[in-house]
This record gives sequence, C-alpha cells and structure tokens, in this order.
Amino acid sequence: MSDPLIEAALAAQQRAYVPYSRFRVGAALRTVEGMVIAGCNVENAAYPQGACAEAGAISAMVLAGGTRIAEAVVVGDSAAPCTPCGGCRQRLREFAVPGMRVRMVDGTGRVLLSATLEELLPHSFGPDHLPG
Ligand code: THU
Repeated sequence: MSDPLIEAALAAQQRAYVPYSRFRVGAALRTVEGMVIAGCNVENAAYPQGACAEAGAISAMVLAGGTRIAEAVVVGDSAAPCTPCGGCRQRLREFAVPGMRVRMVDGTGRVLLSATLEELLPHSFGPDHLPG
C-alpha cells in the first residue's frame, strides 16, 4: 500500500491512548500546503475530557502552520466504517476545502467508505456565517 495519508492514519492509530474504550482511532489530514498531519484519540479518566483523533490532528495541523484540509482519512477498530463523530464533523468543517473528502479505512488500509464532508454534515454552519 502506498497512500501516505492512509499510512499516516494507520501509524497514528497505533499511538492511541484508549484504556477505557479500547477503541483505537487514527486520523490523518492532507493540507492544501501538502503537509500530512496525524492524530490519535487520547482518553481520560474523567471520560468527557477525552479527545478524538480528528481533534488531535487538527490541533497539530494548526500548530504546524497548516491552514486548510484538502483530504482526510480516519481508521477505527470497528468492522463498520469509523465515521467522524458529530463534533469532529464540525471541527473538520472549520478547515475543509469545498468538496473535501473523508475516507474511512479498516486496519489494513482498505477503504470502507468515502464521503464528502458535505455529505457527512449537510447544511453546515461555518466561518462564512459570521460577520467580519
Ligand atoms: N473516536 C474518535 O477518536 N474519532 C471518531 O471519529 C469517533 C470516536 C474515539 C473517541 C473515544 O476515544 C473512542 O473513539 C470511542 O468512542
């Protein structure tokens, strides 16, 4: 397999800190600048303080100077595609280019589902809604 975005998501998944759910998630973003940035889920004994893989990847992207997400890959431990949670759809929305595609892959890197962010989060609210 030779897709760097899928490889990055799979590698990130191995770093997941998931003592509570045991559900490992990896996410990788390709930015418009050409960077590949990954994240994993990091859980917490105070359960709601856990962070999703997508959230970690977005934070790392901003820190690295990335501005917009051109494409994303998410991998989870389920047989069904690991679709981004509702909150992470909105987080991705903030930085997504129009038509941005999210590929959800299994642990071997096989694509289980490919969807645009618009399909995952239709009629979304974004920066353009705000004045200024
Ligand atoms: N999780 C993610 O990291 N991303 C998703 O898109 C779905 C869910 C995490 C949160 C929690 O650590 C675990 O998966 C089980 O919900």
